[in-house]
Formats: sequence, C-alpha cells, structure tokens
Amino acid sequence: MATAPSLPLDAESLRRDFPILATRIHGDKPLVYLDNAATTQRPRQVIQTLVDAYENRYANVHRGIHWLSEQSTDLYEEARESVRRFINAERRHEVIFTTGCTASINLVARSWGDQNVRAGDEILLTIMEHHSNIVPWQQLAQRTGCRIRFAPIDSQGRLQVEQFEALLNERTRLVALAAVSNVLGTINPVESLIAAAHRAGAVVLVDAAQSVPHEPTDVRRWDADFVAFSGHKMLGPSGVGILYGRERLLEAMPPFLGGGSMIRRVTVDGFEPGDLPARFEAGTPPIVPALGLTSAIEYLESVGLEKIHRYEQLLAERAHELLEAEGDIRFLGPPPEFKAGIVSFTVDGIHAHDVAQVLDRQGVAIRAGHHCAMPLHKQLGVVASNRASFYFYNTLEEVELLAAGLRELKRVFRRR
Ligand code: ALA
Repeated sequence: MATAPSLPLDAESLRRDFPILATRIHGDKPLVYLDNAATTQRPRQVIQTLVDAYENRYANVHRGIHWLSEQSTDLYEEARESVRRFINAERRHEVIFTTGCTASINLVARSWGDQNVRAGDEILLTIMEHHSNIVPWQQLAQRTGCRIRFAPIDSQGRLQVEQFEALLNERTRLVALAAVSNVLGTINPVESLIAAAHRAGAVVLVDAAQSVPHEPTDVRRWDADFVAFSGHKMLGPSGVGILYGRERLLEAMPPFLGGGSMIRRVTVDGFEPGDLPARFEAGTPPIVPALGLTSAIEYLESVGLEKIHRYEQLLAERAHELLEAEGDIRFLGPPPEFKAGIVSFTVDGIHAHDVAQVLDRQGVAIRAGHHCAMPLHKQLGVVASNRASFYFYNTLEEVELLAAGLRELKRVFRRR
C-alpha cells in the first residue's frame, strides 16, 4: 500500500521489517500490538545486528590486547558516538551506557544526589512521574532528610506550569521530570521548565524514556543536565540504557558502582577512579545490546523522528475519535494535540483488567494497571486504567480493531 497522501509514513511497508507483527493468535486473529510504551518490537535489521555480533564480533571491551577485543571495543565506542549524535550531546564521554533508564536515574540519585543533597534541601518532581523517577529520590530523601515535592497537573492531565514555577525556590537542588508521561501521554514543555529550574539554581534530570523513541531529541537545545532513557523502548534490546550527563557535573561525581574498568589504579589501601565515561561503567558493560541500540538508531533515523511523531499523533487522534464514539470512556490525559501516541482510559463500570482481557481475546494487546505510576492514579481517583500506546508500525486499521474490541467488551459485559 502506498502512503496515503495525508499520512507522514508508510506503516504497512515498515511493519514488514518486524517478524513478530505478523503473529496471529486466539484462532487466527492478527496480533494488534498496542503496548509500545512498555516495550517496542525489533526489526530484522536490529535482530541481525545482534546475531552478527555474537557470531562474528564478540569479545569483552577495553581489556584485551587481542584482535577480537579491539574489534569489539571499536564497535562499542562507535555505538557511543551514534548515541551522542542522535541526542546531539556535545561530547562522546557525556554518554554513559547503563542497563536501562531506571539504572540511569538511580546512578544520578546515588552519585550526584548523595554528594549534593542535604537535609532541608528540596527535590521537585511532577505528579505524573513513573516510579523509576520517584522511588530513587524517595530513597535519597531517606538517606539525607531532603524533601520531595510534586508539581500538580490540571483536569486535562497537563502540568500546571505556574505552580511548578511557584514550587521552585532556593532550596530546590534538583528537578526531575518526564518529557512525556507514560500514562497521560502529556508532552511537557521541557525546554522552558529547564530554563525556569536553572533560574532557581536547580539541576535538572529529564526522564526521556517515552520521548527519545518518538520525536527528535536535542539535549543541548533542552539545556538538560541529565537525560535518561532505555534501548528497549526504541527498537533496541533490553538491558541497555543511556545516561547523558553534562561533562562538568559528571566530572565532579564519584563512581556509583565499583569494580573493573571504572578505576585508574587500585592498591590494598584504596582506588583512584578512572576518567569519563569508564568511571560510571563498572564491570562488563552491555556490549552487544549497545550495538543493537546503534542499529535501532539507524533504523529510526531512516524512518525520520519528525515523521514518527506526527504519525503517532494521528493514531492518537483517531483513537480518541473512535473510543469517544463508543461511549462510557473516560480519557486520562489531554486532547491528542498536547500528547504523544499514548491513550489511557477507563471504561465506566468495568475493571481495567477485564477490559484488557476481553481485548486480548480479540488479539489486541494493551496494558492494564497503574503503569508504575501509583501517585498519578491516586490523584486521578482511579486504581487502575487501560493504556493503548502506539509506535510508527501501528496502523489506522489497528486503531479500528481497538475500538471494535471495546464494542465486544460492552457486548460481553452488558449483553447489549
Ligand atoms: N515503563 C514502562 C511502562 O510504562 C514499563 O509500561
């Protein structure tokens, strides 16, 4: 099928690169995979990179003098360069490989946090944060006695910017916020929020797990101090994530994990930490996942991040239209023009798990629960919700299957 004139990309053709999307389940129903905010699928190109790495290029990095280790080290460092370019970081050693977004945030909380935060200091979050951007700061508060504050959202699920700014003060040491909410889909005005935080003298960490895979990222335009994201939400393997950190801050931070690679010298009396980025990459790093991530980045760049963003907004817009027409739906989050391709909702009188189960029987995979955002759900007054989350390989036909699944749900529960 050729790209319809109004669509920014040709999802039908792109999805042929993803073997798993051809799966049929429950009596030959096509699998409609709408759980992309939890994790995405991988194209053949990424899978082939992983196979090729293990078959031909695998050895430990930064250790061997032998040929294979040198090959592997070069590829691993090229992967770092590829990430640097993708997010427009200034220096390659500002890109740290971790095991995922959660590990990246914990690294900052432990290393920067323990060094810079004291009793009475404040950390400002938003109420829409994922647990991975709440709990590490709560643990820091337990260790230091600092205070955690939450900026509120309005009735549409958009950050209340004036209140966010009002919460900033001379005690605010750090602001940690999601670029895109994993539940509401809300796109936060990261650039202006960071500018406001900097005016107050705070350091800013951006949880970009739900934004980097879906829209162009420029950490220098944001002027972010730290940015965290995961490989598995952007076509890459699980087990690899990124921490971007401003050189000046990373240079002053002590190592978090100790072990091989992160040192310059070790004696029986102690150790001297190594330079960036090795200082924060103790032990054997996620070598092959990092190569897979490079391949994922190449794939995303070939599709085009701007196009991906526009296309996913179209899918979200269509989902809003169709679900609204079904009735008895409460959307959690703002109208489509203010959000990414994430549509969360509740169905009046039917538990989220029942909704997901009936949809699954139709072949439609969505997530049900609190999506690791319990404080947000409490604020919204719901225990659990449903979430359909799109990627560029989803089609308008699949959005229609989601709506058809909800019609079936009503038939099952209300016998209409
Ligand atoms: N953070 C992932 C999600 O929102 C797992 O589903």
